[in-house]
Amino acid sequence: MITLKFLGHACFLLEDERFALLFDPFLRENPQRAAMPEDIERCTHILVSHGHGDHLGDAFEIAKKTGATVISTAEIAGLAGAEEIANHAMHIGGKFAFEFGAVRITPAFHGAGVPGGHACGFIVDFGGVNIYFAGDTSLFGDMALLGRLERIDYALLPIGDNFTMGPSDAAEAAAMLNARHVVPMHYNTWPVIRQSPEKFKAAVEKRCAGNVLILNPGEQISL
Ligand code: NI
Ligand code: MN
Repeated sequence: MITLKFLGHACFLLEDERFALLFDPFLRENPQRAAMPEDIERCTHILVSHGHGDHLGDAFEIAKKTGATVISTAEIAGLAGAEEIANHAMHIGGKFAFEFGAVRITPAFHGAGVPGGHACGFIVDFGGVNIYFAGDTSLFGDMALLGRLERIDYALLPIGDNFTMGPSDAAEAAAMLNARHVVPMHYNTWPVIRQSPEKFKAAVEKRCAGNVLILNPGEQISL
C-alpha cells in the first residue's frame, strides 16, 4: 500500500513497505508541523526542492539520523556531501531510475536559497503512481508540457500566493497538468500566505476534472 502523509507547509511523507520518501522536511520551526524531526524514524530518501529554510529545513538532521539519501539539485546535493550525507545530484530536465521508481527534476520559477542554484520540483513515479511535487513556483506555461510528457496522478501545488502561485493560478496549473488529483500545499503556515483551500477546491473543480484533496497537517491518504 502507498500512503501520502501531509506533515504541514510543503512537507510530505510518501511510503510503501520498502521505501519512505520525505519531501521538503521543514518541521522543527514550522508553526503547523505535524511531526518533529526526531519523530521521523523511517526515511530512505529526502527530496529537497530548494535551499530556503522552509524547504531544506531539517533535511540534513533527518538524513544523518536515518541514513537517507538526499536527492536534489547539484548545489543542494553538494551541501549535503560537505556534511558527509549520502546524496544524489540531479538537475532540471534530468530523470533517473531509483530503486523505488523514476524521478524527473522539473523547473520551478523561484529563488534557490543557495549560491548558484535553482529551485526545482519533482515528478516521482512511486510504485506506478506519478506524483508531481511542484515546489515553490509561479505558474508557468510549460506545466502543460509536463502534463503531456507524464501522466500526473497527484499534483501537489502551492496555493499560498505572495511567495508562489496563488489559488487561481494553481487552478490553472491543475488544468494545464491534466492532474487527476490535486493536493494544495504551502498555505496558512503564516498570515501572509493565508488562503481558503475550499475556495481553491471549488475553483479547480469548476476549471477541470481534477479532484482536490484537502489534507490537514498529520492527515494521510492511500494512493
Ligand atoms: Ni522558497
Ligand atoms: Mn517556501
